[in-house]
Amino acid sequence: MAIDHVLKLYAETIRSPYLHYGYWDEPEKVNADSLSIDDIADAQGRYIEHLTSFIPEDVRSILDVGCGVGGNTAYLQERGFDIDVLSPDSYQEEVIKEKFNGALQFFKSKFENFETDRTYDLILESESACYIKIEPGFTSARRALRTSGYLLVADYFVCYRDERGSPHLKSSHPMKAYLEGAEAAGFKLLKEYDQTENTMPTLDAAHHFIERFILPTAEYAQVSLQRKNPLTYRLMKSLFGKNISSKMDQLDLVKSEEFRKYRKYMIYLFQKV
Ligand SMILES: C[S@@+](CC[C@H](N)C(=O)[O-])C[C@H]1O[C@@H](n2cnc3c(N)ncnc32)[C@H](O)[C@@H]1O
Repeated sequence: MAIDHVLKLYAETIRSPYLHYGYWDEPEKVNADSLSIDDIADAQGRYIEHLTSFIPEDVRSILDVGCGVGGNTAYLQERGFDIDVLSPDSYQEEVIKEKFNGALQFFKSKFENFETDRTYDLILESESACYIKIEPGFTSARRALRTSGYLLVADYFVCYRDERGSPHLKSSHPMKAYLEGAEAAGFKLLKEYDQTENTMPTLDAAHHFIERFILPTAEYAQVSLQRKNPLTYRLMKSLFGKNISSKMDQLDLVKSEEFRKYRKYMIYLFQKV
């Protein structure tokens, strides 16, 4: 993978060191329509704080798989963990090398293809498990973990299917297949935690932002182009019309009621047995 431009867009617009959903302690009290970008960045800080509480006491070395732009890494490094990072993305490689001034080991690789001589106490996959193929991902995790080492995963999984073709059914693993894959690869599930509700205000805020700012702006641009330059408008419509309607279907991805219907956002702590 060269550069994931969607993740790059998040990193450059939100300008937080995290690329995950964040964690809201009291989601029922959050008014998502009035959240600021700083509120979301604060929730992202709480996410790694909460996730860290799942790290067992005997862990010292960590491989942060799918490290993004290094927010989790920095948090864990500040708490004294000995940490290496991995990502297949060139943009993230550049950001990490600059942020940590070359002071930590960056592996540029898909985790499925990762080979190492070093073993770690814990592998962290924070919102990266959904990108990693199940079976080769567990094989790499076994290889990179010491005896009785841990795999800590925080990500969303598909827990319900129907025939509506929801975008929520794509780009995440079926929960059952993932847990069966873990067991087949010799991983024992020690702890699980459903944090779906604690992540939903971020989706609600994104939905609100898109409805309030992005859609009206896009509509204005369309009407304006149609009036001032009908020929260009028709050309654009014939070129991108289908593309735009499939992008509109993607809006379902930021509807929390759709997320809840098809997915759960889980924390899993596994141990290599
Ligand atoms: C949503 S971001 C999460 C980043 C970071 N862990 C965080 O919580 O802020 C997903 C990360 O997984 C990485 N990724 C994508 N495919 C991968 C693969 N096959 N192996 C390892 N990492 C991958 C992306 O480049 C990115 O760093």
